[in-house]
Amino acid sequence: MARILVADDHDALRRGLSLALTAAGHDVEEAPNGNAAIERLHEGYFDVVVSDLRMGGSDGMDVLRTTRSMHPATSVILMTAFGSVSTAVEAMKHGAFDYVQKPFEIEEMEVKVEKALELKRLRHELEYLRTEQQETYDFERIIGSSDALQRVLGIVRKVAKSNSTVLVRGETGTGKELIAGAIHHNSLRASRNFVKVNCAALQENLLESELFGHEKGAFTGADRQRIGRFEQADGGTLFLDEIGDMSPNTQAKILRVLQEHEFERLGGTRTLKVDVRLIAATNRDLSKMVATGQFREDLYYRLHVVTVETPALRDRKEDVLPLAMYFVRRFSSELKKKLDGLDTDAQKLLVRYNWPGNIRELENAIERAALLAEGQLITPDDLRLGDTGSTPGSPRETSTVVRIPPTGIALEEIERQALVEALRMSNWVQKDAADLLSISPRVMNYKIKTLAIELPRRRITAADGG
Ligand SMILES: Nc1ncnc2c1ncn2[C@@H]1O[C@H](COP(=O)(O)OP(=O)(O)OP(=O)(O)O)[C@@H](O)[C@H]1O
Ligand SMILES: [Mg+2]
Repeated sequence: MARILVADDHDALRRGLSLALTAAGHDVEEAPNGNAAIERLHEGYFDVVVSDLRMGGSDGMDVLRTTRSMHPATSVILMTAFGSVSTAVEAMKHGAFDYVQKPFEIEEMEVKVEKALELKRLRHELEYLRTEQQETYDFERIIGSSDALQRVLGIVRKVAKSNSTVLVRGETGTGKELIAGAIHHNSLRASRNFVKVNCAALQENLLESELFGHEKGAFTGADRQRIGRFEQADGGTLFLDEIGDMSPNTQAKILRVLQEHEFERLGGTRTLKVDVRLIAATNRDLSKMVATGQFREDLYYRLHVVTVETPALRDRKEDVLPLAMYFVRRFSSELKKKLDGLDTDAQKLLVRYNWPGNIRELENAIERAALLAEGQLITPDDLRLGDTGSTPGSPRETSTVVRIPPTGIALEEIERQALVEALRMSNWVQKDAADLLSISPRVMNYKIKTLAIELPRRRITAADGG
């Protein structure tokens, strides 16, 4: 079944054609003139448009132009009266699929519609082949051979070609947006738009106008009509980032688009139809938010048809060095600096570190190190890991040399400083700090208590890790 728009100001002919195509199993809509046809094209998607060439107001050429610009994959078949064949030929040059000369047998039109649909299927198949080839290219940008990541990529490959909604969940900087992009670029929608909206960046009204667009005068300051992101993503994918930060009102509207594929622009009365695949991302626990009433349960179930969990970097340490090398190569070419990699100590440090900001933090650390590095290898000093400078009581400089002030210092105080420094470097993970000082976690824990070392309530994140 295909969606077909029939536009003709000749009522009997339009009705007849519409009935015949409906009988052939298609979903047909009628437009009694060119303006109405153009309006319908703005509201929804059609596989084939059958339009009379000569109509009052907007004519068949206008309908053709609108279709070509709004729905490039839609075929247009024009109907022309005897004597205007030259115009029809002109229309073919502008991208019409075919034309029929009036009067014609209904069967003739049916055959042309079938041909147009066949062409569409072929194009679709070609696109499929094209995206299949592109696949290797796109997944190549996602570095990491850990089981945790490969499991995620396995799911991504499987769901990419379907139209199902995907929820990407994971800590900050774990690659949620990268995964969303990979899903789109490996889907059948790859040649259409991948549109991103960050739901946390805008207040309710602005976010809704961003998503759904608005009509002129919808609110103070709306001095012209605006097309929303949903419309821009028609035929493609909409990526809703930080979806846990959306107000209940907006949640209700998103639910409606997911269920009915329709919405209105703010201040508008016309219902618009779109064909959009939704990918949502969040670093929050939506199921908990459902339990506390902050997130709609029905929307949650709609979203989490397929859930992809991007693993934290600390849970797949074997990916740290390959990622680091990938970033070294990238930044050395961007900065036009000759860098071969990291020295052994720097590598050890990277693997030991806890990465609260995940891959983004690693990327930032390597960028900074690449800038600072004086030799061909990055050293631990260049990395400045966990150097937040915001922890009270911690010495500002990392040094293996203990300086004793002329007035003297208690050994206990030096021990205290060493412990705090090790903890800070390990992002307050006691086991890692114990490793750094070659003591057991139990001794570490004991010393923290006896020396009354204050631990921050939450693990700190690197200052620029977000
Ligand atoms: N597996 C990976 N291989 C290569 N680069 C990666 C990988 N994962 C993430 N990155 C890079 O790390 C950075 C952070 O990734 P991304 O923006 O996708 O994370 P995010 O989960 O959306 O973060 P946030 O929650 O902060 O928005 C990006 O520059 C991205 O290209
Ligand atoms: Mg993101």
